[in-house]
Amino acid sequence: MEIAPIMSASNVTMLNAPMHSWYAPHELSKLETPCYVFDPARVIADYSKLKRELGTPLVVSLKANPNPDLFVRCAQTFVDGIELASMGELNVVVGRSPIPKFINTPAMDLPLMAAAIASRATLVLDSLEQVEMLATIRSKVAPLPVVLRLNAKELVGDASALAAVDHFGCDLPGAMAAITRLRALGIGVRGLHVFAGSYSFKTWSPIIRAAAERILPEIRQRQGSDIEFVNVGGGFPDDWDSQRGLFDAYRGSLAALSSKTRVYHEAGRAIFAGSGSFVTKVIAIKSIGGRRIAICDGGITNCFMLSQTEKVIKRFQKPDVIAMQEQSETAHATPRHGAVQVVGNSCNRMDVIGELGTETKLAQGDRLVFRGCGAYSTYSPVGFLSLKAARRYLIS
Ligand SMILES: Cc1ncc(COP(=O)(O)O)c(C=O)c1O
Repeated sequence: MEIAPIMSASNVTMLNAPMHSWYAPHELSKLETPCYVFDPARVIADYSKLKRELGTPLVVSLKANPNPDLFVRCAQTFVDGIELASMGELNVVVGRSPIPKFINTPAMDLPLMAAAIASRATLVLDSLEQVEMLATIRSKVAPLPVVLRLNAKELVGDASALAAVDHFGCDLPGAMAAITRLRALGIGVRGLHVFAGSYSFKTWSPIIRAAAERILPEIRQRQGSDIEFVNVGGGFPDDWDSQRGLFDAYRGSLAALSSKTRVYHEAGRAIFAGSGSFVTKVIAIKSIGGRRIAICDGGITNCFMLSQTEKVIKRFQKPDVIAMQEQSETAHATPRHGAVQVVGNSCNRMDVIGELGTETKLAQGDRLVFRGCGAYSTYSPVGFLSLKAARRYLIS
């Protein structure tokens, strides 16, 4: 396998190896740890599968993995568009791909709005205040027709006893007022957008679909023309495929809405999670009161999601252990049996990133590979203890 460094904004190193061969000890030993290994082919496969199963266009939420090199290699597949939430994300995409861009954030300020319009992105307006912001520059710019974001709870109304309140989008009176104001400004509304949050698919998607169907005639009437599309969000978990019954029923229920307008979905983790692995090296193994503890050269500082600090019930990942020949033959004093707590290098008690079963053979120098780390994993408090950032490798 050739490892060729490339000049790139994201400092990614290319791995000339098919997925899985990089897993071999002699290949893994060439990777600087801690690191991520991303597989563009897997992103493309997972995107295509979800889109095919939904039977609708699928917008990609870049925040789930904003790596520019990964984006460039997948962009030709993301034909329905990419959703961006900051100037930084817009800069990742501009000039790298002509796919449709949607700018969607309640925190849109004037510079971001102006940059988005200049790059021919579609604004997803979150509030009447954003409509007024647009009005202030209307005489100087010609925006594309916009999308209006609706608040999920306000849209579904009384039907949602389970509704969590969030601060995104407009309520219905606000949306109607926005349409009127936009008409006066000579700006059309191309679409509506609703997103009830990550992992909301099971509980929210059916009621959002029904509510979108219900309000569409009123919106169309206020707008005075058809609404090109409704993006009903998604909130798909990374293992959406394991909920077949639910998924198939939902897909079947889209027919009525699809007959009135184009239905879009969007996703982040369901597209990127499976494509990334986090690799860390075992620095030391020790024992406290019979507990085995493997201390690694990476952890919460590089892969915040693995520490699961944000989850009520912690279910630690069981990483794959790749024994590195030379080291695994080395005798060491620590016990060879007992469950292993896998911890990172940040001196933080929350820095527990995985666990291994009682019979696990483990030695200093072994590599631990955590799968399913392709989404939201590269945002970490890098800089803590001045620890080094994780390297990034792309499988070519
Ligand atoms: C508006 C919007 N759409 C899509 C997503 C992607 O969510 P997920 O990665 O859970 O699919 C997010 C995530 O925060 C979001 O804010």
